[in-house]
Amino acid sequence: MSRLGIIGGTGLTALEGLKVTRRTVSHTPYGEPSAPLTYGDLNGKEVAFLPRHGASHTIPPHKINYRANIQALSDAGITDIIAVAAVGGISEEMAPGRLAVPDQIIDYTWGRKSTFFEDGQSPVVHIDFTHPYDQRLREMILQAASKEGIDIVSSGVYGATQGPRLETAAEIARMERDGCTLVGMTGMPEAALAREVEINYACIAVSANWAAGKTSEVITMESIEQTIRDGMARVRSLLARVIERMDEN
Ligand code: HPA
Repeated sequence: MSRLGIIGGTGLTALEGLKVTRRTVSHTPYGEPSAPLTYGDLNGKEVAFLPRHGASHTIPPHKINYRANIQALSDAGITDIIAVAAVGGISEEMAPGRLAVPDQIIDYTWGRKSTFFEDGQSPVVHIDFTHPYDQRLREMILQAASKEGIDIVSSGVYGATQGPRLETAAEIARMERDGCTLVGMTGMPEAALAREVEINYACIAVSANWAAGKTSEVITMESIEQTIRDGMARVRSLLARVIERMDEN
């Protein structure tokens, strides 16, 4: 039996439609996760929800305790994580408002605690990270989107930046040359940590804005927030469909 955890990003600090059954405060050897885990019933299945930036969106990307978040979900017996993340669009297809299920990552973050395997606490393991996202979970999301008639880009390279500032135009041009199609601040080390504890992990990215230098318009928080609000409404119905199909195949 799979047990689904959802990590919500900007615009998804709570899961509407979730009939909340309980909340658990977790303590891990790495500290406290961003918020208590909220358990609830979504379409007849139990899911655990964790808002990455805290319940009132106060934790910036570089201050998130990614290890505590993943450890808390692991301790809760979660087998599969769908991470929802707002991103900037780099490639033409990633126009604001569009959703994507990335299949690759390039990590530009620095100074984050990015592994469970340090300080001599456990033997060093070099995880295979060739394909950073779980293929089966990705396909489930894409199939659910197709069933539901939700427009979604079926692949993408997630460039993870440090933030909290947005990028310069030259940084985005470089990332584009590297092959990134979208940019966000929270994709790493979250994905790698999930792999380290053998949790299947996939991401639904919501393009909130064109990345720096891709438009002459100034990126404002107001326009980003509106686009995210619209996108997250589609993410919620997508998640409900994915959950329905979770143990079917
Ligand atoms: N860059 C990085 N992270 C983001 C962006 C962006 O343009 N938009 C939303 N999250």
